[in-house]
Amino acid sequence: MVETSSRQATARSRWRRISVIAGVALIALFVVLQGIALALPRTNPPVIAEPNWDSPQTRELFMRACGDCHSNQTNWRWYTYVAPAAFLAYRDVTEGRQKCNVSEWGAGGEAKCDESVEQIQEGKMPPWFYLPLHPEANLSAQEKQQLIQGLVATFGEGPGREGLPGQEPGEREDEEGTIGRPLALRLS
Ligand code: HEC
Repeated sequence: MVETSSRQATARSRWRRISVIAGVALIALFVVLQGIALALPRTNPPVIAEPNWDSPQTRELFMRACGDCHSNQTNWRWYTYVAPAAFLAYRDVTEGRQKCNVSEWGAGGEAKCDESVEQIQEGKMPPWFYLPLHPEANLSAQEKQQLIQGLVATFGEGPGREGLPGQEPGEREDEEGTIGRPLALRLS
């Protein structure tokens, strides 16, 4: 009787030791990752130039749904300082800016922006995991349509694509903001 309960006690204390070690190891791992997370450069480089937005509304919608990852005006919220969210946010902003950065227009930032309409229509952008924490980026069907039309007018139609129904090529008359628009449109 006495022997059994002392064996149980030994087993219990072994479990306790294992959980303490595992707990300490997890905390140590978190501390190391958190140290790395804090050291990440969460930069907002100066805005060099923006596209010639067709309207303030287009810019507002874009900044609301896309600006965190596709501009130099990222809102680095508190959880972007906490591992492991910090790593995801850092990677998204870095890769997002590389593909399309509306703050470095004409300086390389415009590279892939003309794919935006397609990305929105296919539901790829904004990324699904971004939306629960950023409900303001979850555009209504109407806002999405407004953004798409605004982006066609602002970025051009993208390589090898016809305009949206109801939009004549060259409809927009302006002198600047022709970067990314087909040459024929620029000259028109
Ligand atoms: C949470 C960050 C984030 C948000 C918000 C976001 N993007 Fe992205 N975007 C990325 C990342 C990361 C990539 C590069 C990897 C990829 O293509 O999936 C990317 C790639 C792109 C590309 C290039 C695709 C290609 O052909 O390579 C376009 C265009 C784009 N995004 C448009 C948008 C638009 C438009 C919005 C808003 C409606 C938006 N993104 C919102 C992170 C984001």
